[in-house]
Amino acid sequence: YRAGHKKVVIRLVFENLEDDEIDIINEIINNFHTFQELKDNNVILVELINILKETSESENINYVIEKSIKITKKILGTQGASILLKDEKSNELYFKVIDSEKSDKIKEIRIPIDKGIAGYTARTGIPLIVNDVSKFPEFYSNVDEKSGFITRSVLSAPIKPLGKIIGVIEAVNKIKGTNFNNRDLEILKTIGDIIGINIINSLLYQRLNNLSTNIIKSLISALEARDEYTKGHSLRVQIFSSKIARAMGLTPKEIKEIELSAILHDIGKIGIPDNILRKPDKLTNEEFEIIKKHPVIGYNILSSIEGLENILDGIKYHHERFDGKGYPDGLKGKDIPLIARIIAVADTLDAMTSDRPYRKGLPIEYALEEIKKCKNSQLDPEVVDAFLSSFTKPEELKIIL
Ligand SMILES: [Fe+2]
Repeated sequence: YRAGHKKVVIRLVFENLEDDEIDIINEIINNFHTFQELKDNNVILVELINILKETSESENINYVIEKSIKITKKILGTQGASILLKDEKSNELYFKVIDSEKSDKIKEIRIPIDKGIAGYTARTGIPLIVNDVSKFPEFYSNVDEKSGFITRSVLSAPIKPLGKIIGVIEAVNKIKGTNFNNRDLEILKTIGDIIGINIINSLLYQRLNNLSTNIIKSLISALEARDEYTKGHSLRVQIFSSKIARAMGLTPKEIKEIELSAILHDIGKIGIPDNILRKPDKLTNEEFEIIKKHPVIGYNILSSIEGLENILDGIKYHHERFDGKGYPDGLKGKDIPLIARIIAVADTLDAMTSDRPYRKGLPIEYALEEIKKCKNSQLDPEVVDAFLSSFTKPEELKIIL
């Protein structure tokens, strides 16, 4: 009989049994117990595999941790479970996630690192089975006193990814008064390990993300420092492209890629000489031919960076036209990658409305009419429609421009 499982009582009455018949019956009973144990182990394995699967698919660390705690409670059959993390500055443990009664009150409480069962595991890295907290001399009763929760038994395991203790996972109060055993502890340790790996992964992912964001920002400021007329252009094209992608119902991943491609779409202008890039007058045909190289230059700059594969088309093809008269490859219609057709609409609108040294930007209402006229010739009509549907009044766009 285990918590959460049905209690099954089987009473068999036999009379006048021979010895070998008794042996057979004993064997059947033993087999039944083994079967039950295997079944329980199976349930646990399936739950653990589920945690692993979900965690490897989720980028949201909080979701992963909350889910792990729910499963801990379920597998171990306890009243509560929690993750405490170390605050290195104050030398305390704080509740990152808690799933139990009185959790609102408990969540506020901080535990000094030199106190209690969690503190012991956090300091030493030693997991503990405490089936009667009143007999554990170091038990920190403050948490119960402040919250009104009554702790009877605790199971604790360290969270120590790459050998560094960053916190503790706890399961509290085995239901129905049964004791925690070594098997329970092994399960808790495994879940603690899974959480530890995920926390480290998420930190590394965040760091990498910040690094790429900063590199991209630097690239954009390098470009904008040289060409003040494009100041803010990259950001506005990113905002418009994002609105279009959302209106077209693209996936969050696709939206992210489009946003990144849009902010970098003109990065190739870094390779265009100053006298052309910053020329205040209209360009000659020869100069325009040089400017036209910027999509391919941008593509070449970024093509060797791993992880940017999906954004390159937006950079290389944002000056292709729907009617096939664009550059660099003269692609036509849906042969132009969608990411580039989206950026083209955003880019065209912003180019029309922003001021240039040789002309003033068009008013938004007029630019919108022009965009509609470009359907099928320069721009993909579906993308234009998605863009027009993404706002209700021109005033909404004026805020961005
Ligand atoms: Fe461009």
